[in-house]
Parts: sequence; structure tokens; C-alpha cells
Amino acid sequence: MIITFEGHACFSLLVRGVNILIDPYISDNPQCNKELSDFNPDLILVTHGHHDHLGDALELAKANDATLAGQVDLLQAMDTTGLRTVGFNLGGCATICGVRINMVPAWHGSTVIGANGVRYAGVACGYVIEDEDGNLYHAGDTALFGDMGTVIQRLNIGCALLPIGDFFTMGPRDALTAAHWLKAKYVVPMHYDTFAPIQQDVNEFRRELESRTDSKCKLLAPGESWELKL
Ligand code: NI
Ligand code: MN
Repeated sequence: MIITFEGHACFSLLVRGVNILIDPYISDNPQCNKELSDFNPDLILVTHGHHDHLGDALELAKANDATLAGQVDLLQAMDTTGLRTVGFNLGGCATICGVRINMVPAWHGSTVIGANGVRYAGVACGYVIEDEDGNLYHAGDTALFGDMGTVIQRLNIGCALLPIGDFFTMGPRDALTAAHWLKAKYVVPMHYDTFAPIQQDVNEFRRELESRTDSKCKLLAPGESWELKL
């Protein structure tokens, strides 16, 4: 699996020839210099409705005839007329474009902004994407929670994409605990430095992670790619 960090919580994945885009916050993302036309996803996964995650999902799905997948209540809160959608729910595994995608819990809110203002949009989630090179966990926006060490850890996490920004999500200290509980071989920190309240010293996080857990830290700059192969 090739993993490209697009800044904030947005990642492009190439999984056995399938282009997957997670949380496509592109056009307003201060960390992403790419254009929407630089992306050609087959599948777009969204963790929740907040703008820094839903981002350009609807426009990109339309432009690329891509499948848009997410928590069923989120999809129902939006106008997805004409789009190919897969609305599933926590604990479920969906095979989409031939890739097995597990929807796992996240402790966070979910709203979308529509014509009539802010609307609740179900629960936030994370994803575990299965691949023989190693399974990838995108935690979404979340607090630390104990089920990471049981329910999610069972899914054999090769690489965990974990928020470390604090304020809106867990911070570096809880992300260390998450990495330990998940027994993740690699951790890629995300959701930091994008906005003023989530500035973090990512090098300090890397040092702490590698000295206090068995996980390796893979720091990716926006635009940088890395191949996960266990
Ligand atoms: Ni959020
Ligand atoms: Mn967020």
C-alpha cells in the first residue's frame, strides 16, 4: 500500500491499484498545495461531517465518478443525489472496489453545514483498511478510548494514522498510549499544526513514541508518500 499524506487528516492510498482518498480536505487545507484536478479517486472515505474532513468530498465524487462511503447517517444528512454511495455503520466491514474496509468507533461529533444551517450527522468513525502488506487504521478525529486496545487492536494494525493536535482530538500524550494499546508497527501523526490551537512539536512526539513504545514513527510532510510493507 502506498500512503500519501495530503496534510491535516487527508491521505491518498493506493491499494492494489485502487485509489482511495480519506477525508478530502483539499481546497481550504492550508497544508495542501494540490488542486482538486490532481486527484482521481475510485473511492472516497469520510470519517465525519466537519469541514476539515468532509472537505471537497461531494465535488470530487461527482467529478471522478467515485464511490463515496461513510457512516450512514452522515450520508443521509447530505444531498448525494446522483452519487454512488455506500452508507455503512460502526462494527461493519464493507468490501468496496474490492478492498475490505472496517468502520470502527471514534469519540467525536459529526455535523454538516447545509442550506438550513448546521445539521447533526450521526456519529464520527475511523477506518481499518485491510491489505496483505499490512492493515491501515485511520483514527479520524477522536479522543483516546479503551476499545483501541481491544476491538481495534484485534484487526492487526500495521500502521496507525493518529491525531496528535490536542484541543479538538487527543493530544501527543494520549496518542502515545493509543499506539501502545494498538500495538501498531508504525504510527503516522496527523491533525496537527494546521490551525493555531493544534500546534505541536512533532519531533518531540517522535522521540517519545520511539523511546516509550514499540512503534516506529513515520513522519510524512504534506505531499510525501511512503510504502507500507510489513
Ligand atoms: Ni472534527
Ligand atoms: Mn478535525
